[in-house]
Amino acid sequence: MPSARIVGTGAYVPERLLTNADLEKLVDTSDEWIVERTGIKERRIAGASQASSDLAYAAAQKALKQAHLKPKDIDLVIVATCTPDMAFPSTACFLQDRLGIKRAGAFDINAACSGFVYGLHLASSLIRTEAHKRILLVGAEVLSRVTDWQDRTTCVLFGDGAGAVIIEGTKEKRGIISTHIQADGGLGELIMLPGGGTRTPCSKEMLIKKLQYIKMKGNETFKVAVRTLEELAARTIEDSGLDPSQLSLLIPHQANLRIIQATAKRLNLPEEKVFVNIEKYGNTSAASIPIALDEALHAGRVKDGEYVLLEAFGGGLTWASALLKW
Ligand code: UT7
Repeated sequence: MPSARIVGTGAYVPERLLTNADLEKLVDTSDEWIVERTGIKERRIAGASQASSDLAYAAAQKALKQAHLKPKDIDLVIVATCTPDMAFPSTACFLQDRLGIKRAGAFDINAACSGFVYGLHLASSLIRTEAHKRILLVGAEVLSRVTDWQDRTTCVLFGDGAGAVIIEGTKEKRGIISTHIQADGGLGELIMLPGGGTRTPCSKEMLIKKLQYIKMKGNETFKVAVRTLEELAARTIEDSGLDPSQLSLLIPHQANLRIIQATAKRLNLPEEKVFVNIEKYGNTSAASIPIALDEALHAGRVKDGEYVLLEAFGGGLTWASALLKW
């Protein structure tokens, strides 16, 4: 059985910047509060004509270029998103068409902020069983469209962006070493987007109640995230027979700097072994890890043979980890 390996990465964020100072003009908040509680300084906002598949397209093109591959080399397109262009066709189908990829399957997965790592779990299995040769996996979100810009408890947190990876098989003993996924649907009410689905379809009443926007019980989510991620990260490393000191880099989902620091502390990782870019982009949900991975690679923070841990937590609730040997 081959191992599954990431052979190309790419990221795209929209040009428009929204700073904490801009948010101070929209809601009763302050740069000081946002930085202290979250670590976020600014985020990117998609243009009026940009949907998730447009961001995904820009990121995917970069990943293909970096891997020296052509669209025809891809035989499966997976997009992890909780902000699809529309309910259907899937964002992956729009992306497949735009890239001109023929004879490939295409579908979306939704595990909210854990979506990209869930996608790695799936893609790695499909490559190892040789069901597919080369998979394009993209995390893409336009959260600004489902954000209530009058709700200070959520609007300061999110941003838009996309990150893409290409995964193929290798006979070498490296790549995606292990993946773990988990969920607790019983805690679904902590983060949700209640309106617009079949439970509460779009209606005048739904719009008046603002159910088309993300609702989050931030502090309760925070506590579960810290507890769960600390445990998940430690278990992922332990299960693979490694010691945390052998990790070269932790690339966590960028939801809150304090959550990231708590996981790093549990693993006894120094600051330089933890990748953080939350200050520039905020929480971009399924896009956050592939954007961070791409930036870490470009910054020379990941070298051949090094161990990298990815971990994410999000709506569902869902959480997931992936251990890579680069
Ligand atoms: O990616 C998916 C998973 N999501 C997460 O992991 C997010 C997890 N949660 C968090 O990151 C944090 O809980 C938040 C950043 C959302 C909030 O931080 P917190 O330290 O948990 O604050 P809090 O919700 O307990 O609120 C503390 C106070 C409240 O005021 P009172 O009730 O103490 O008077 C809030 O109303 O801060 C107030 N507050 C704000 N103040 C200024 C809430 N939002 C803001 C704001 N500006 N934007």
